[in-house]
Amino acid sequence: MPSDAPSTARSEELILAFLAEAGDAFTSGEAISNKLGLSRTAVWKNVESLRHKGYVIEALPAKGYRLTEIPDRLTELELEPLLSTHDFGRTLHHHAELASTNDLAHRLALEGALHGETVVAEHQTAGRGRRGRTWVSPPGKNLYLSVVLRPELPPQRAPELTFVAAVAVAEALGDANVPARIKWPNDVEVGGKKLAGILTELHAEPDRVSAVILGIGVNLNLAAEDLPAELRSTATSARIVRGEPVPRALFAAALLGKLEQWYDRHAEQGFEPICDRWRELTSTLDREVRVRTGGRELVGRAQDVDDSGALLVAVGDSLERVVAGDVEMLRAT
Ligand code: BTN
Repeated sequence: MPSDAPSTARSEELILAFLAEAGDAFTSGEAISNKLGLSRTAVWKNVESLRHKGYVIEALPAKGYRLTEIPDRLTELELEPLLSTHDFGRTLHHHAELASTNDLAHRLALEGALHGETVVAEHQTAGRGRRGRTWVSPPGKNLYLSVVLRPELPPQRAPELTFVAAVAVAEALGDANVPARIKWPNDVEVGGKKLAGILTELHAEPDRVSAVILGIGVNLNLAAEDLPAELRSTATSARIVRGEPVPRALFAAALLGKLEQWYDRHAEQGFEPICDRWRELTSTLDREVRVRTGGRELVGRAQDVDDSGALLVAVGDSLERVVAGDVEMLRAT
């Protein structure tokens, strides 16, 4: 007997998932009602409630329903129907404002968060970048997320996960028509301007990692005038590159899918396939570079990365191995 129950969060989520899966096609009220065990009236009540929350759902008498617009928010209601993952993003901690998604993810990891639990914020008041820098995090336009990972890895192999993330971010941007490249180790750029960054932090014991916090920031819908003046020559956004905004929930779900896919591949096959894909997506190799590392500066040709992800730079007759640092591209060779 189909239920006539009023709209509930769960039935709204199921209806959204159903409509999202149908894409541009209409889904009949009858099909939704049969699939979800709801009366036609209950389906209609759920659709009305979703419309009040900002979803645009077309309804045509002979055809049924079609989802044409989702609100530009990153709550569970928007993300869940779009996820293709088994773990990543399935438990979602969404906040309108946080100091830093990485900070909350750290706390959750200490309290026992499971692999794949994800923190998302619409705004960060103290977003953190690599090497103690600030990550500019204005509200409502970008993506700031942190995933708690529970890898079976010794601490010295944890940096490999940064490469996993860089590959996933570059691929997700590529699928959104943003031809992104990776600058060693994990800056994601277009035309030499940065649009995404990755901050990997560890909870480790001497011989094993207990959690990795993978923090990812992507400039999605910033307009050029939203960027602080001092960043305009070095930073960009997906919107500036594509000339049109990116639906944030769709992008976040696609990114979590890519992340999980490459994470699983790493767990099954190790670092090599990740490194191979990273080499295809990087702009750093075979270039003249200046590398600032631990108070030293090297100028040479970026030759390759080794099997731990360190950058190998040919300086005169010697090959220098760089494990951490900032790379500046000089010119193509
Ligand atoms: C970099 O310097 O390139 C890394 C930037 C990482 C920014 C992200 S935004 C989400 C997460 N929370 C933070 O405070 N930082 C990371």
